[in-house]
Amino acid sequence: MNNKNILSINNLSAGYYVNGQYINVLKDINLNIKEGESFAIVGQSGSGKSTLALAIMGLLSIDNGKIINGQIKFNDEDLISKVKHIRGKDISIVLQDPHSYLNPVIKVGQQVREALEIYNINLTSKEINEKIKDTFIKVKLDEVERIYNSYPHQLSGGQKQRILIAMAIINNPKILIADEPTSGLDLSVQKQILELFVELRNQLNLTLVIITHNILIAKKFSDTTAVLLNGEVVENGNSEKLFFNPQHNYTKLLCKHIKKIEN
Ligand SMILES: Nc1ncnc2c1ncn2[C@@H]1O[C@H](COP(=O)(O)OP(=O)(O)OP(=O)(O)O)[C@@H](O)[C@H]1O
Ligand SMILES: [Mg+2]
Repeated sequence: MNNKNILSINNLSAGYYVNGQYINVLKDINLNIKEGESFAIVGQSGSGKSTLALAIMGLLSIDNGKIINGQIKFNDEDLISKVKHIRGKDISIVLQDPHSYLNPVIKVGQQVREALEIYNINLTSKEINEKIKDTFIKVKLDEVERIYNSYPHQLSGGQKQRILIAMAIINNPKILIADEPTSGLDLSVQKQILELFVELRNQLNLTLVIITHNILIAKKFSDTTAVLLNGEVVENGNSEKLFFNPQHNYTKLLCKHIKKIEN
């Protein structure tokens, strides 16, 4: 990690239009994410975590959402206006629900190939195959041939998640956002997937943004944590410190609950 901000979010407010009426969700968010760090965004269901991820990715409008105020900067440049040109390349996301994201009638290998080809029209088919194979190995999918030729329903939840991670990293992103990447997976697979994210971050010099409702995951897998409550960042800082010495009442509550489970 160095001290340069790769992503800065300033005074960000965003929400959704429901039946033509605007409902605000994110309230004046300010965050700085340093290049190379693992940054966790923690909060309960409905706190606005996915909304924030979609805002960064420029995908809010798909859900009738809108940024109504503020700035997002990627390496000091305005991201909001240019994200559509770099989405899936410099900045990519593994979405919360793999089932709704993978196309059920296209072999997963083909879907990974399409993710690569969007930004690499000049690669030969040999180069494409090598890159795909290399990416499958990076995300620890063995049996490359079989998995390449499988449809989503023929894979386990963990394998599908690895396919989504492969699609997200194949264009060598600088920032990888993982929105609840392990919900729906059993505990041991959850751990493997989170460890994979951290390993990829080290291997590929990524900046990792982990979105989770679990403060223990934040403590274990991130350097810095921001706690989101009702669309506001209530606390933000070093993950260990935040866990052992929470300042805000809500963070205290989250930590107390976890410590009870741990003991
Ligand atoms: N498309 C939408 N239209 C209207 N409201 C929405 C939409 N998507 C989300 N919301 C509302 O925005 C708020 C934040 O939702 P968001 O999905 O960002 O929460 P989250 O923290 O990701 O929750 P979870 O942990 O359940 O994924 C919620 O109150 C939700 O009902
Ligand atoms: Mg969410």
